[in-house]
Amino acid sequence: MMTVGNLRRGSGLLLVGLSMVAMTACGPKTEAEARKQVTKRPFGQTAEGAAVELYTLTNQNGLEVAITNYGGAVVSIKAPDRNGNLADVVLGFDTLDGYLKEHPYFGSLIGRYGNRIGKGRFTLNGVAYVLARNNGENHLHGGLKGFDKVVWKPVEATAKDAQTLVLSYLSKDGEEGYPGNLSVTVTYSLNDANELRIDYAATTDKDTVVNLTNHSYFNLAGQGQGDILGHQVMTNADRFTPVDAGLIPTGELRSVEGTPFDFRKPTAIGARINQADQQLKLGRGYDHNFVLNRETEGLALAARVTEPGSGRVLEVLTTEPGLQFYTGNFLDGTIRGKGGKVYGQRYGFCLETQHFPDSPNKPSFPSTVLKPGQRYQSTTVYRFSTTAAR
Ligand code: GLA
Repeated sequence: MMTVGNLRRGSGLLLVGLSMVAMTACGPKTEAEARKQVTKRPFGQTAEGAAVELYTLTNQNGLEVAITNYGGAVVSIKAPDRNGNLADVVLGFDTLDGYLKEHPYFGSLIGRYGNRIGKGRFTLNGVAYVLARNNGENHLHGGLKGFDKVVWKPVEATAKDAQTLVLSYLSKDGEEGYPGNLSVTVTYSLNDANELRIDYAATTDKDTVVNLTNHSYFNLAGQGQGDILGHQVMTNADRFTPVDAGLIPTGELRSVEGTPFDFRKPTAIGARINQADQQLKLGRGYDHNFVLNRETEGLALAARVTEPGSGRVLEVLTTEPGLQFYTGNFLDGTIRGKGGKVYGQRYGFCLETQHFPDSPNKPSFPSTVLKPGQRYQSTTVYRFSTTAAR
């Protein structure tokens, strides 16, 4: 294991490891400060022979986030419960092997277009583009080889108040059918407020569409510890986008009032998930985009999830207009994940910050078009905390 980054690196000293008390140019380093580090270790090789790494970002509270540059996937997040006990709260695999096989986007970066594009086609400036149809007749999560299946270039970086990993990828003109060379940078940073921040940026040399997100599956009781139906969810959304049988939005922005989609007050995921509701039937549970309430530009609270047993709380803040709330309905117990845990139906939930699905075909939705000279920028924060005992 090797230390590749340290908050104090700017002081001219490279401090390695979790030493008890180390000296820096600024004076003695407390045990808590010494925990702050970025380490890397080999994670394996792709079929094409590309070496892949696993980076671990640790903050002064001991919260630890591991990320691989294969698919930019978040592999683990070890977060404290109300008694300070750490548990891994995301689904995933112990080795690269699991990520190389077909899997439902555990922790992955998603692009060039997160979520679905109806019939795998759209028209831009009068030109029709045809994308892979990898989800029935529709295009999902960037196609056959989306950003979740590429090797990202890691760039070591230092930030003042956080442990940081920068990943970059050049998506070539025509890749998966999309126009324009798209240069993408994703920055993961972990600070001492237990916030994992993801900054997405992209530029293009031709008009294109972009919608980037992360597909982490959370279980705040600990990964593989059962289903997530007892988690209490609050979403800051008065409306959602109902879908058709292919999970493509109809174009309507429907009020959540009086529906199982009303999470404006914290409600258990399982409280209404099996109701005889047409939208829940189509999604086999929740698999819908919520239209976030927004008074100002910038980062705003999108959702808060509490797990009563452990007291762990996850808050999601974003600059995006939408949030896909997916309750792991397609997990079916056939995947064995970390520590040999079997992931059954609804063993994890996703909160994918995004522009609305099928926006390239829905002129009334906020635009996902990126033009040369513009910069795509999007930020999402996953903030971990705890609540007192029940
Ligand atoms: C997204 C989709 C779901 C499903 C998962 C992956 O969240 O909205 O319908 O495809 O990805 O299984």
